[in-house]
Amino acid sequence: MRSLSEKLTAFRLLKRTGEKVGMLTAADYPTGRLLDEAGVDFVLVGDSLGMVVLGYPDTVEVTMADMVHHLRAVRRGVERALVGADLPWHSYETPEQALENARVLVEAGADAVKLEGGRVMLPQIEAIIGAGIPLVGHIGMLPQSVREEGGYKKKGRTEVEAAGLVEDAKALDRAGALAIVLEGIVPAVAAEITASVGCATVGIGSGVDCDGQVLVTADLVGGFPWFRPPFAKARADVAGSVSGAVREYLAVVKGEL
Ligand code: KIV
Repeated sequence: MRSLSEKLTAFRLLKRTGEKVGMLTAADYPTGRLLDEAGVDFVLVGDSLGMVVLGYPDTVEVTMADMVHHLRAVRRGVERALVGADLPWHSYETPEQALENARVLVEAGADAVKLEGGRVMLPQIEAIIGAGIPLVGHIGMLPQSVREEGGYKKKGRTEVEAAGLVEDAKALDRAGALAIVLEGIVPAVAAEITASVGCATVGIGSGVDCDGQVLVTADLVGGFPWFRPPFAKARADVAGSVSGAVREYLAVVKGEL
């Protein structure tokens, strides 16, 4: 097993050498282990697990207890990649609360923590990084704010919004963020952000000109057939395979096959 500092150094080197960052989400041991064995750079225990594992309509209901439970399982499966975990909604409202909960996630096995928000979150971000905990930022479309925003809306469409996103990214980079997730940002703006910061940008629905890409693994493997965002290409049909196996098993059990 590589040390945390070896993993962080290898991760930071990716942007410098121009190798793209491959990040995917996991919420259980087998998925974490499969991603790690396939060579993923960063396994994210994202709060999207609230939707694709726990069946909530969005990420807002996810608790620290949920995150710790899933993070522990993923941690047991990952030896090589960095493991990051989301601070869920309402778990980082003050710098003190953010640091306390970041420490809980580190204790449960996280190498890094992620939270949503730009300059408005700087006090929380500085508290976490100041305590020596690697932090991944997340700007653009923020799923934890979906209810206030009334839906998932593309970000960076106006000049003012685009300039604000660039300033957010620069502030996070100056604060020492390990990486920044760019979600649902107009591709040209994501490209400008990527060129403006020293840390890696990891895009989701933000075009190809980021330093890497992240997807919810259920979307990548066709594991959640009831909804898949339009930018996510399913490269397998896990739901179809499961349904087929279950139907075949039932037919055998019931003597129809
Ligand atoms: O929760 C999550 O899975 C995420 C990724 C989509 C970046 O935040």
